[in-house]
Amino acid sequence: MQYRRLGSTGLQLSALSFGAWVTFGAQIGRTESRNLIACAWDNGINFFDNAEGYARGQAEAVMGDVIADLRLPRDGFCVSSKVFFGSANEPGPTQRGLSRKHVTDACHAALRRLRVDYLDLYYCHRPDEATPIAETVHAMNVLIEQGKVLYWGTSQWSAEQIGQAIAIADARGWQRPAMEQPHYSLLERARVEQMLAPLCEQGLGTTTWSPLASGMLTGKYNAGVPAGSRLDQPDLAWLQAAQLDDPARLDKVRRFSALADGLGIAPAQLAIAWCLRNPHVSSVILGASRVSQLEQNLGALQVLEQVSAADWAAIEAIFPLA
Ligand SMILES: NC(=O)c1ccc[n+]([C@@H]2O[C@H](COP(=O)([O-])OP(=O)(O)OC[C@H]3O[C@@H](n4cnc5c(N)ncnc54)[C@H](OP(=O)(O)O)[C@@H]3O)[C@@H](O)[C@H]2O)c1
Repeated sequence: MQYRRLGSTGLQLSALSFGAWVTFGAQIGRTESRNLIACAWDNGINFFDNAEGYARGQAEAVMGDVIADLRLPRDGFCVSSKVFFGSANEPGPTQRGLSRKHVTDACHAALRRLRVDYLDLYYCHRPDEATPIAETVHAMNVLIEQGKVLYWGTSQWSAEQIGQAIAIADARGWQRPAMEQPHYSLLERARVEQMLAPLCEQGLGTTTWSPLASGMLTGKYNAGVPAGSRLDQPDLAWLQAAQLDDPARLDKVRRFSALADGLGIAPAQLAIAWCLRNPHVSSVILGASRVSQLEQNLGALQVLEQVSAADWAAIEAIFPLA
């Protein structure tokens, strides 16, 4: 494993990390969840990503049980939560968003479910137009002063919103957001490479998500939707539409798969390795529904060394920045 600083902080995260979205507490059972965390840990992954909204809190509960069961040393791993979407079945007005109340309640609930005394990373999962940014920044600062959170950050915020949060924090002597969690893959380049790059140059860390675009970049959807795969899940029809409705998108993936085959490298490994090449990426958060996938994806670290500059250029030519 390779370890990278989270932006300008002193926190060293594994360059590949592991998250629980749509798998833990939903698509997969406890035994597979335990096997996945054990495999990740045994391979040097030290950051596990979660959110209040994943399976309405169940993803955190399963992860907390598994980490306790595996007796991972608390000073050896980092765990995150994210606040915004709520964990109630039908969240009421105080049970979602980024008000001081919900940011605080969601932190306490995540600590209970994850069975930890503090969250290493705590994210605002989306911007909340109905809450002043200063209120959220202050709530995060209080949680940090109370020792319940170590680093706070954002997810899918605009550069302007992150800039506002930094300016408010600096003006009042509060903790700045240390990281952003953006979507980043060959199919989603602009947010990280264009919008966030100036902030990363100034020390913002990034923990990036969906490096395989929910599995698209493995090539598994090139000839249809395999039974039991993510895009076959009945409650994820919206995700299937987002990934597969545009024929040009699928065409790019098919060309990428052919290029990977020509190099003798699994497309999943090549797609993840490409994310790792960006020095602004602190950690690439992987997802997997079974251990064999995670084991394959961990091979991305070796692939980094194997691909020539000309081949990387050929890959980027398939997925040009808009
Ligand atoms: N902040 C945010 O808004 C946000 C949003 C999304 C995700 N995230 C975080 O990022 C993490 C990773 O995102 P993601 O799960 O979407 O990552 P991803 O790598 O794009 O997709 C992972 C899925 O692709 C399939 N897959 C992975 N490796 C494979 C392989 N080698 N061969 C075949 N299929 C493979 C599996 O699905 P199937 O086996 O079911 O097909 C797996 O669950 C999440 O768990 C979460 O922690 C954050």
